[in-house]
Order: sequence, then structure tokens, then C-alpha cells
Amino acid sequence: MTLHGRAEALSTLGRLMETEQLVTVTGPGGVGKSALVAEAVRGQRRRNRPDLIHLDLAPVSDPELVPRWLSYGLKQINGGGRRQTLLVVDTCEHVADAAGAALRDLIAERPALRAIATSRIPTAADGATLPLGPLDVDAAVELFRDCAPGYRDDGAAEGLADDDTIREICELLDGLPLAVTIAAAQLQRRSPDELLTRLAGADGALALVGGGPEVPERQRTLRDSMWWSRRVCTPGERLLWARAAVFPGAFTLAHATEVCADERLSGSELVRAFAGLRAQGLFAAAGDKDDELVWMPRAVRAYGRQQLARLGEETEFQRRCVAWSMDVLKTNSVE
Ligand SMILES: Nc1ncnc2c1ncn2[C@@H]1O[C@H](COP(=O)(O)OP(=O)(O)O)[C@@H](O)[C@H]1O
Ligand SMILES: [Mg+2]
Repeated sequence: MTLHGRAEALSTLGRLMETEQLVTVTGPGGVGKSALVAEAVRGQRRRNRPDLIHLDLAPVSDPELVPRWLSYGLKQINGGGRRQTLLVVDTCEHVADAAGAALRDLIAERPALRAIATSRIPTAADGATLPLGPLDVDAAVELFRDCAPGYRDDGAAEGLADDDTIREICELLDGLPLAVTIAAAQLQRRSPDELLTRLAGADGALALVGGGPEVPERQRTLRDSMWWSRRVCTPGERLLWARAAVFPGAFTLAHATEVCADERLSGSELVRAFAGLRAQGLFAAAGDKDDELVWMPRAVRAYGRQQLARLGEETEFQRRCVAWSMDVLKTNSVE
């Protein structure tokens, strides 16, 4: 599969790998961390022919086992240290602290070791971090075409969506590669217009099923992917994720505090949770200033709304959000 829209990220990663012993690629589930790293590793193998060890920590649920997994993995190659070793540790988020600590120890012990990790949440390991955001629309459209049945062979889009429809679909999916691949596979059973209508609905792409047995369970649907993300959130982050889903558009930390804080989620907890969700890309932003506007990608918001309903807090926070927006309107009209 061709990697679309990642030329800049690939060259940044390549540069970081020359100077840093460890690079951690972070970003939300399905944004393409593993795909980017796989491509970077292919490039490294062609150039430097390092010994390569690839470990996926997804099945390791006990943090205490992480150091053992890593050292066991390293023992698999024992090339006498003549060649460089490149260690890839994929899917660290659910054991982020343990993986960060184990990687820190490993690189301190072995100065010749190079490592790349992927994680939905930042780990405490040293080295560089490369945050990965969604694809721009053009790259998302290319990916959609690649994955849509019937397109690949003749490229003529017979019976398939026109460009505008594909573009609209990709925009509704916020350029998230996992969502794009899942949605494109839907064209086996629905028309592009049906898909578009479905995506524009309240639950959007959350429940669409894609991917065969080769796809890990946490990536079969966007809901599975969200579930996995929620699992690695702190309690404060989970609560803010659910409550902030009442915002119909972009909001700032101050807005979130006004609408979402209460005795269950104090102001200081909310500040921490906001930063955490921001670092995980669940709150997307254009910059990284404190007063910046953030927004929730559609699927993230839809999942948050479902969680809010489950908490029984939907009416209350919807009401608070409406009251807040009326205050904003009033203030603006006075000015
Ligand atoms: N830039 C890209 N071009 C083509 N396919 C991509 C791209 N990024 C991700 N994908 C595909 O999207 C899906 C999710 O990407 P993945 O790398 O597994 O996400 P992550 O590791 O961030 O959860 C995979 O099927 C992957 O091959
Ligand atoms: Mg991955």
C-alpha cells in the first residue's frame, strides 16, 4: 500500500533518527503512526541494513512484562554488535509508563541501539517526539481511491463516487486514515451517496465495519479504536471528552472550564485533562498556545456524546453549553 501525504513527516522522522537514539511517534488511533514507521523502517533497511526487531506491545497488558518483552526481543538477534540494531516498539499507549521507562533503560545501556516507538499518548522516555496529525484532504482522497473496491484496476471510477463526493466523505472523516480505509471498503455494499448520508448522521463513521481478520480488533471499527483510546485516558480526560462533546464547534480551555467543570471535574483537573486530550490529538488544534481554539474530530465527538448519554449527563451539559453560547452572543452584541 502506498503511503499518501506523508513526505514531510517521513523526512522529519528520517532526520530525527539520525540524531536521536529514540523517536516516539504520537497521535490518535488510526492516524497512521504504524504505517509511517513501517515506511521509515523500509527506507532505513535499504540504506543502512540494520538488524531489525519489531515488537507490537498491543497484546502485553501487564506493564511489568514490558521490560522482559523488550529484552527478549533484543536477544533474538545477536549479531555480535557489528551491525546497528533498530528496535521498533509499536502500540505503547496502554503501557506507556512502563514502555517509556524500559526504553530509557535500554538506550542508556546500549549506545548503538536506535529505537522508534509509537504511542497514542506521550511516554516518559527520552529522545524526540514526532506528533502526527491527520492527512490533508488531497492525500485522504488518494487513500480513499486506493482502498475503494473497483477503483484500483482501471482508475476510471466506474460506478464510483465523483471527486466532489469523495472529497466530502474525506472531510467528514477528518482525514483520519483508519476512517478513510473503513469508509472506502463500504462501497462494496452501499453507494457513495448512501455512505455520505450515513456519515453526515449523528454517529457518523463510528459504527462502520471495515477490515478483515488481518486488522487488529482495536481497529475493526472506529468505535473499537475510540474504546481503546478511552481505556488509556485518565478519569478526568474521560469525563472531559464526554462533556466537551456538547460543543458544536471549536472551543478554548476557558470555554471548556466554563461549561464542563464542576465538583466532579475541578478546574485544575480540567486543565490537566485538556492538555492530555490535546496531546493525544483527541482535541485537534492548529497551534499550541494556551488560549487556542481546539475542536473534536467528528468521530471523537460522536463517541463522547455516547459516553455522556451513558453517564446520564447529556441534558445537564447540553443546557450548560446553550446557556454559555447565549452569554457569548449577548457579550458580542454589546460590544
Ligand atoms: N499515509 C497513509 N497512506 C496510506 N495508508 C495509510 C496512511 N496512514 C495510515 N494508513 C492506513 O490506515 C490504517 C491505520 O493506520 P495505522 O498506521 O495502523 O494507524 P495507527 O498506528 O496510528 O493507529 C492502516 O490500514 C494503514 O495502512
Ligand atoms: Mg499502530
